[in-house]
Amino acid sequence: MKKASYLLLAIFGLISFSAQADVTTAEQAATQYSLFAKSTLSADDGKEFYTRKQMVKGKDLACSTCHTDNPANKGKHNESGKEIQPMAPSANPKRFSDLNESAKGFTKHCKQVYGKDCSAKDKGNFIAYVLTFK
Ligand code: HEC
Repeated sequence: MKKASYLLLAIFGLISFSAQADVTTAEQAATQYSLFAKSTLSADDGKEFYTRKQMVKGKDLACSTCHTDNPANKGKHNESGKEIQPMAPSANPKRFSDLNESAKGFTKHCKQVYGKDCSAKDKGNFIAYVLTFK
């Protein structure tokens, strides 16, 4: 199943001509994380990671709290109410186009939600998941 998801990801990449440049950089980011993790990626595990709720300061918090249940939609910061551009590269070409920015975003928000940075595998799965939104 995990291998199959990764293969699907590769196939999706090949057939999505519309937003190719941005999707390609996101796929490269996912591939890098998969190499770091020495593991294939799973969009299903990415979804579970994205929506998994943690109790933070007495409130349920997940990536989806701010980035919404649909990564192709605009998100909203749970405290400031500030709009957040979509996580899915298909909906937001800037997403994952700068790997340093992405790495900072991951570390910051992983600490906020999970109390520590996330593993390369979690990050790769996260990108694999948001790439499934066309
Ligand atoms: C409290 C609200 C909030 C939560 C919860 C949250 N984020 Fe974010 N996230 C933001 C904001 C705000 C930005 C910066 C604005 C932007 O990039 O559009 C951001 C940006 C990012 C970026 C940078 C993406 C890029 O452009 O390269 C990544 C990666 C990211 N978040 C991952 C996560 C992950 C993984 C989780 C769950 C562990 C998570 N976020 C939870 C608010 C949140």
